[in-house]
Amino acid sequence: MLNFDMILKLSISLILIVLSLIASYTMFEIFGKVERRGNMDLLKKIHRINGRLFFIVFLVGAIGCIYLLNQSKAELTPRATMHVFSAIAIFLLLSLKIIFIKFYRQFYSYARLLGIIVVLLTFNLVAFSTGYSLVVGDRVNFASTEEVKSQIIAKTKEGNVESGKKLFAQLCSSCHYTDKKDFKRAAPGLKGILKEKALPVSKKPATVENVINQIRNPYRYMPSFSDLKDEQIADIIAYLKTL
Ligand code: HEC
Repeated sequence: MLNFDMILKLSISLILIVLSLIASYTMFEIFGKVERRGNMDLLKKIHRINGRLFFIVFLVGAIGCIYLLNQSKAELTPRATMHVFSAIAIFLLLSLKIIFIKFYRQFYSYARLLGIIVVLLTFNLVAFSTGYSLVVGDRVNFASTEEVKSQIIAKTKEGNVESGKKLFAQLCSSCHYTDKKDFKRAAPGLKGILKEKALPVSKKPATVENVINQIRNPYRYMPSFSDLKDEQIADIIAYLKTL
């Protein structure tokens, strides 16, 4: 089954590919032929409108990605780094192309080459994101992180409160009170944390899963403890349950 994410990715990719193809076709028709036949003005008009559409779709996509990235706080994988690199390059080259055409006409001849590079980079971008997900399947990945989480949750039942208390004293107590809900250095007190309805700052439901998530991928300013072992997290959770 395709999920919503995948359908969104697929449609944006398809739109960008179709727009790139139209851009290349009109460009080659306008500049590539020895004898210019056909309706040049119409081709140029299509190329311009197409270019604007591309720019808008690209910008909306980029803003969406920056928003998601900001939400997830995740470290970029090499593949995501490649993706961001291509996206920024496309944006800069396309802007340069527009600037050459509109303002610095002496550079006009470079615009064609820039256009070709933009199209190539777009294919590269799509191949590295949607293409990769289609071939390898993001869902596999998704299932495995869910699995890991449920394993941790299963383990929390046998988490060791004593060792959790020690870990908490070492790692967490400098910022969090355990005996009250007051704030200490912008960090909420954790008394009764897993007995409440919602977590104090993010207001997400106060579930074991969300607290594990907070420890691994904090909501805002809290440092991440992503190198803690599953058992250690299970112990901390067991201790938090006693507060
Ligand atoms: C350097 C200070 C600091 C340390 C150390 C720290 N925290 Fe936090 N914690 C924060 C801040 C600040 C917040 C507020 C939310 C945020 O910025 O992510 C927070 C929020 C939380 C929340 C509530 C999250 C929410 O969604 O409202 C939990 C639960 C939590 N911390 C648990 C822990 C645990 C467990 C540890 C130890 C492994 C720990 N914290 C270590 C600063 C810290």
